Amino acid sequence: MNKFVGKHVVIAALFALAGFAATAQAADVVGNAKAGQGKVAMCIGCHGIPGYRTAYPEVYRVPELGGQNRQYIENALRAYKKGDRHFETMRAIATSLSDQDIADIAAYYAAQTSSSKNNPDK
Ligand code: HEC
Repeated sequence: MNKFVGKHVVIAALFALAGFAATAQAADVVGNAKAGQGKVAMCIGCHGIPGYRTAYPEVYRVPELGGQNRQYIENALRAYKKGDRHFETMRAIATSLSDQDIADIAAYYAAQTSSSKNNPDK
């Protein structure tokens, strides 16, 4: 085998590995509601958890997140982060979140029900 071809085979193999690693990483992001609980302190002020239940409907100016579908929350945060969805404060916040943060926060909010206790990490 000549040297030139050999080099390309190695490069192709490296690209294949890198692609594999990237896919594995994306699949590894599993939301953890418990971890999410500690990450929503900065959301509570606006999204009103846990006060939203008692304050409803007067204080309501932002969407309710508790009990919302996990995928829906993840998609919304990713859309803000990417700039597909526009709302300045939400974009600034979403930009600061990692994929893991988004997954954890979505898991946390999705697990909320009307009988959930107030967030102790508030
Ligand atoms: C400064 C106030 C503020 C803070 C802080 C804030 N949000 Fe928001 N959020 C809003 C407003 C207002 C909207 C509605 C914006 C729009 O119409 O797109 C919104 C929208 C959302 C949506 C989309 C909901 C839907 O029904 O479409 C999600 C998800 C969300 N916020 C998550 C979060 C999370 C998670 C945090 C904390 C990491 C957070 N927000 C912090 C004000 C805030």
